[in-house]
Amino acid sequence: MTSGVAAVIPAAGLGRRLGDQSGTPIPKALRQLGGRSLLVRSVDALSGAVDQVVVAAAADQLDLVREELADCAVPVQVVTGGDTRQSSVRLALAAVARPIQFVVVHDAARPLVPPEVVARVIAALRGGAAVVVPAIPVVDSLRQFDADGRSTPIDRSTLRAVQTPQGFRKDVLVEAHRRAPDGDATDDASLVERAGVPVTLVEGAHLAFKITTPVDLLVAQLLLRDESRRMSGSVPTVEPQR
Ligand code: C5P
Repeated sequence: MTSGVAAVIPAAGLGRRLGDQSGTPIPKALRQLGGRSLLVRSVDALSGAVDQVVVAAAADQLDLVREELADCAVPVQVVTGGDTRQSSVRLALAAVARPIQFVVVHDAARPLVPPEVVARVIAALRGGAAVVVPAIPVVDSLRQFDADGRSTPIDRSTLRAVQTPQGFRKDVLVEAHRRAPDGDATDDASLVERAGVPVTLVEGAHLAFKITTPVDLLVAQLLLRDESRRMSGSVPTVEPQR
């Protein structure tokens, strides 16, 4: 049975903030985490819930990325991404096959997203939402700067950190990208919201964090090491923190 859901994975970022210990530039999506790349882990995290995956990769890495994804459990198409995340998503979206009703857009840089988050997003779409965003409370105290450099505190209880996969009715997402073909929106829900479509929030998870800096990669490595120890029975089970 088909799910009627496609996944779009923007993976064309260079990952400059992640740094590079090897001296040879490796695109962020192909950085290794516990023996598999961030990209393969992200595709695997979605593969049970979608019929097809379209990955946007940098023009000079298409062959490398295709090779990397050759053994995935779901059909994967790799297309050339753009200069911004927004244009990478637009280009990948154009390659999604027609009978698809829903699209989930997921950052390649969020390889540890738990299956429950993917399931919650898709369930909300099937329940009638046009745009679904997983989000978590903000844990740090926050301040906002004005043009003069003065800062004031913000009430964090009114804020949420937004994650991916974000879910969309395909026609709604296509129309939002048609209206705004260029730009540097950091997520797709904000783009669709500009077109007046309301957004439904569902519970995200700390494990869906985005790998941006070397510390993030280290944390992900430690989490996986801990998980494999638990699987081998050498440490007690610890529930992921909500
Ligand atoms: O830069 P940032 O961490 O926000 O990137 C989020 C996601 O968007 C990453 O998976 C990255 O590979 C992707 N991206 C892209 N094309 C770009 C820039 C970022 O596909 N030009």
